Amino acid sequence: MSDRSILSDDKKSERDQIIEGLTRAYWMEIETVMSYIAASTNPDGVRAQEVIESLKQDITEELGHAQQFAERIKELYGQVPGSLAFKAEQDYLQPGPDATDLTGVIQGVIQAEQGAIDHYNRLIEVCDGVDYVTQDMVIGILKDEEGHLRLFEGFLKEFQPRT
Ligand SMILES: [Fe+2]
Ligand SMILES: [Fe+2]
Repeated sequence: MSDRSILSDDKKSERDQIIEGLTRAYWMEIETVMSYIAASTNPDGVRAQEVIESLKQDITEELGHAQQFAERIKELYGQVPGSLAFKAEQDYLQPGPDATDLTGVIQGVIQAEQGAIDHYNRLIEVCDGVDYVTQDMVIGILKDEEGHLRLFEGFLKEFQPRT
């Protein structure tokens, strides 16, 4: 294996750093799947339907992201963790008492997407010059998250019209 490859023996510390970032990304996607299942099921009302439909589509995409992160962890000689290692962080996406409060849901989604965008930008930097395959994959996923963020920013405009 050439020394330039991320799979070479002397790139172990770089690999470990990237695997750490991929593992965090994996958990973020998994938690987002859980939060979006709840957020696409709980809301009531006519205005909720667009948001619900959009979140349902996102669930499939976020699950696909989780699978891509898992696959890359394995390719880098890492191990995908088991569920006992999971720690929830999305306190901003918990179901509230008012099932017609879509603004709270939309703001929670925006925060989740922003968190993912921040982490993936950092991961892209970590990969720079070291692991172009992971970098390329994360750039593709980042594009999806920016699309989600942009869509929900649009929803927020409608739910919170400027005065
Ligand atoms: Fe995602
Ligand atoms: Fe997303």
